[in-house]
Parts: sequence; structure tokens; C-alpha cells
Amino acid sequence: MTTAPRQPGLLVSFEGGDGVGKSTQLRLLATWLEEQGHRVVRTREPGGTTLGAELRRAVLHGDEMGPRAEALLYAADRAHHVDTVVRPALEAGAIVLTDRYLDSSVAYQGDGRALGAEEVERLHLWAPGGLLPDVTVLLDLDPVAGLARLEREPDRLERAGLEFHVRTREAFLARAAEGGRWIVLDASAAVDVVQAAVRERVAAALAERGADAGERRGGDADASSGERSAEGLP
Ligand SMILES: Nc1ncnc2c1ncn2[C@@H]1O[C@H](COP(=O)(O)OP(=O)(O)O)[C@@H](O)[C@H]1O
Ligand SMILES: [Mg+2]
Repeated sequence: MTTAPRQPGLLVSFEGGDGVGKSTQLRLLATWLEEQGHRVVRTREPGGTTLGAELRRAVLHGDEMGPRAEALLYAADRAHHVDTVVRPALEAGAIVLTDRYLDSSVAYQGDGRALGAEEVERLHLWAPGGLLPDVTVLLDLDPVAGLARLEREPDRLERAGLEFHVRTREAFLARAAEGGRWIVLDASAAVDVVQAAVRERVAAALAERGADAGERRGGDADASSGERSAEGLP
């Protein structure tokens, strides 16, 4: 597969199980970057577009489906999300922060269930045309602790089983062991301690990118409008 040509912006994904603090950390990072004058686009998968919101409902609340159908719906969501939100924003020089990206698909569907990781990874890399994040923040936490933080969905443990969440955590850690774009943080630490580490890493990536990632405001490719739904915001 050919990988995507480099864009002027910066793509940062937040990964990890439920309740590890992805939304919290993403929000704090966005505010900090905006205060420095960067243009920031916040989004999420699944569901960062209007079509994505429909796919998200189908995946999370629709009929029971087989693992291939589920993987294809997630991949369809990603393909559309990247085409209509992520890539235009990166081309305009924005910093895109996404609450989950392809690593969640691979960790949840490749290792946790019936499909093989390699096959699932190929599908999920193909869907966004090979676009990988510049930085992937893995918030690592014991799934029991993460799920305990989520008061609103107490039935998730029963539905998927603790073993599934433990396997998924291991799958994330195994992927992160590749290094490169990954940073693994202990998500049991205080919110501001985790955030300081996130900022340090993103600042380093921006410095490495040099030039003007995220600094061109008001361009005509404003990805914060159009296909993005308010519901899709993390
Ligand atoms: N480091 C932390 N320590 C304790 N509680 C946290 C921490 N980070 C987030 N929380 C709390 O845990 C809950 C889940 O956080 P959230 O950011 O929504 O997680 P996620 O988006 O990964 O599911 C929220 O109530 C949040 O305030
Ligand atoms: Mg969240």
C-alpha cells in the first residue's frame, strides 16, 4: 500500500479503553493549543461526520452483526471522516485531534474478536488512504478502573466481558511497542500530570514539523463546518 503524502498540519489520535480519559485529555490539549494561536479541529471516531453518526448508531445501537460487517462499517466511517474532515483540515495546516482512530479498530476487532489482526489492519489502513497519525497518545489503564469511572454505562463490562477489555488493552500496548508515533501514558495519574506529558510530546512534534502547522487561521478549507455534526464532537 502507498502511504499518504505528508500534509502541512498535525494529526494526533487518542487511544485506550473506555474511561481512560481520552475526551478529557483531548479537550485540555485543544484549549492549550488554541491559546497559542493554533487552529485546532476536534473530532472523533466513530461518528465525526453526519454519515459517521448514522454508522455509529448502526454499530453501537443497531442490529447484532457479524465481525466483518462491523469492521466494514467502522472502515466506511473512517474513510468518509478522513476525506471530509481530517485531510482537508490537515491540508489547511490545522492540528487535528481525534478521539480514537484506526488503532482502536485494530485493537478491538483484530485482537479481541474473530478476525485476524493483519487483515483488519489492512482494511483500516486502506480506508483512510494510508493516513497515519503523527502522534498517537495511548492512555493505559486497568480496564476495571476505567470502566468504574464511567457511571453512565454500567453494563459494558457485562456485555463484552472483562476478558475482552483486558485483551484489548494488551493489543493496544503491543501496537504501541512499535514506538515511533506512539506515546504510552499511565492514565491512573492525575489529569494534569497526564496532560503535561501529552503537551510535551505534541510540542516536540510541532517543533519537529517546524514551519507553520496549525498557524494559518481562516483558510478557505474550514473543516469545522460542513459535514461535521455537533453530535460528533468529543
Ligand atoms: N486521570 C484521571 N483521574 C481520575 N479521573 C479521571 C482522569 N481522567 C479522566 N477522569 C474522569 O473519568 C471519567 C472518564 O473520562 P473521559 O475523559 O470521558 O474518558 P474516555 O473519553 O476515555 O472514555 C470522567 O468522569 C473524567 O472526569
Ligand atoms: Mg470519551
